[in-house]
Amino acid sequence: MKFMLEATVEYLKAHDGYVSGEDISRRLGLSRAAIWKYIRELRRQGYRIEAGPRQGYKLVAAPDKLFAWEIHAGLGTQKLGREVHYYETLPSTMDEAVRLAGQGAAEGTLVCSETQTKGRGRMGREWVSPKGHGVYFSLILRPAVGLVDVAKLTLVAAVAVCSALRQVSPGDVQIKWPNDLFLNSRKLGGILTELQAECDQVKFVVLGVGVNVNTPSRYLPEVATSLKNETGQVYRRVAVLQEILRSFEKWYNIFLQEGFPPILSEWKKMSLTLGKKVRVTDGNKTIEGDAIDVGADGGLLIRTRGGEVIKRMSGDVTMV
Ligand code: BTN
Repeated sequence: MKFMLEATVEYLKAHDGYVSGEDISRRLGLSRAAIWKYIRELRRQGYRIEAGPRQGYKLVAAPDKLFAWEIHAGLGTQKLGREVHYYETLPSTMDEAVRLAGQGAAEGTLVCSETQTKGRGRMGREWVSPKGHGVYFSLILRPAVGLVDVAKLTLVAAVAVCSALRQVSPGDVQIKWPNDLFLNSRKLGGILTELQAECDQVKFVVLGVGVNVNTPSRYLPEVATSLKNETGQVYRRVAVLQEILRSFEKWYNIFLQEGFPPILSEWKKMSLTLGKKVRVTDGNKTIEGDAIDVGADGGLLIRTRGGEVIKRMSGDVTMV
């Protein structure tokens, strides 16, 4: 059913005007009754398809849903998002991606959901995921790197998502260390990294990304915002997701081929944190000082009031 729905949409999309039911059924090798069934199902899923007695069918508008075939249309990546697992609802895309990765899912496999009932963020926080307003997805990666390099991968993801968001919106999106996406001093998106490793070697990494795209502020915590809130525009979520996937593939390949230096230099240009007075909390340890640099391992360097330079590999940063 899924494959035929996809084929029907693709056929309709490839033709500007009306296409006859007979043409579609001949091309797809299906009966006219089956075509009618698919058209009905597509309409149920939000596609606007006009039908004329002697003209056939015409696709007038597609819904802004993250269906696999919508993501695939014009995507242009080699690996990322080639395999899509789409859900209307999930507790969290992270758990589903970890499950699929454990079963051997290929690198680049994408799990996305229109809503999450138990979306999670860093430090055990909740990630609010109201239906159809944001993009919530997890990507399975299988980089041949050691455990110490996973912190770097988190910054790769931050650079990729930040540059994609800058591409699709006029706002000056920035990164708060290590990988929070900020716009106009409010949080727009976040990245969560989970992994499985054996003897210091990474088996797979699941990178979860949540971006508040058209999310109205009533759903969001005080400190958060959405692209729509900040820019006044409504975005096609599928276009935002496609841009993130393209950008991710580009930066991930740079990381694998050239190492961390080009990522780090881009990260620094996009940073909201460097040069600011910060408080970093990691578990029950808190330090305050100036965020002076990010090291070659992705750690944040803080100069305390006493002049000592301390490195943090994880934690929560607040600007003070
Ligand atoms: C953070 O900033 O704390 C990270 C937020 C990550 C949220 C995304 S939404 C898709 C994926 N599924 C989850 O449950 N979390 C990540």
